[in-house]
Amino acid sequence: INPGWPATLGPLRTQAGAVGLRPVRLRDAKAWSELRIRNQNTLLPWEPSGIGSWAERHHPGSWPPLYSVLRAEAKRGAVLPFVIELDGRYVGQLTVGNIQRGAVRSAWIGYWVDAQHFGQGIATAAVALGVDHCFGPVGLHRLDATVQPANVASQAVLTKVGFRREGLLERYMDVNNRWRDHILFALTAEEIAGSAAETLVRAGRASFH
Ligand code: ACO
Repeated sequence: INPGWPATLGPLRTQAGAVGLRPVRLRDAKAWSELRIRNQNTLLPWEPSGIGSWAERHHPGSWPPLYSVLRAEAKRGAVLPFVIELDGRYVGQLTVGNIQRGAVRSAWIGYWVDAQHFGQGIATAAVALGVDHCFGPVGLHRLDATVQPANVASQAVLTKVGFRREGLLERYMDVNNRWRDHILFALTAEEIAGSAAETLVRAGRASFH
C-alpha cells in the first residue's frame, strides 16, 4: 500500500561528500538525539511547537515511540521518513508527509541538516533525491513545502530544486509558540525536465559519480 517504500536513494555527490537517503531505523536513537540537541538553536525557530522542553523531547528514549509512529504511518502509505546521510553518516532528516492518493496525488516535504554541514549543498541534494522518488516510484504529481519568510536558506534550497512560490499562508502553523505566516512553495511533476537530480548536475551543484 505504500509504493516506493522502503527505499534507499542516491548517492548524489556534493562538495561535502556523498548524499543519500535511507529509511529511519530504531537504532538511530543516539545519533538523532545527539544531533537534535546540539542543533536546538538552528531548529527551534522553524519547527512545529511541541510539548515539554527541547531536551526532554529529544532524549534518546523519545526516539522509539516516535520511530514506531513513523514506521506505522509509512506502512499505511502516509509518510516517507528518511534519514539524510553524508558518506554514510546521519546528518539530518527528510520527511514526505500527508501523502494523498486518488485524484490529488500530493504530499508535503520537509527537512533539516546538522549545522556543522550547512552551505555545502546537502539539503539541496537530499530534496532533489526525494522529489525524483516522489514523482517516480511513489507516483505523486505535486509536492508542497511551507517556509517562514525569514528562512532564506530553506527558500534557496527549494528554488534550486525548482519549486515555485504560490502564495502566503497567514498564521499557518504554530512554530516556536506563535502562529507564523508561511510561504507556500510547490512543484508538479511536469515542471521537472528529466529529473531534479539531473537539473542539479547540469547546474554544477552535484554529480552522479
Ligand atoms: N541568506 C541567503 N542565502 C542563504 C543564507 C542567508 N542567510 N543562508 C544560507 N543561504 C543559502 C546558501 O547560500 C545556499 O544557497 P546557494 O547554494 O545558492 O549558495 C542555500 O541557502 C542552502 O543550500 P544547501 O547548502 O543545499 O542547504 P543546507 O544543507 O545548508 O541546509 C537547511 C539548508 C535545511 C534549510 C538548513 O539550514 C537547516 O537545517 N535549517 C534548520 C531547519 C530548517 O529550517 N529546515 C527547513 C524548514 S522549511 C521546510 O522543511 C520546507
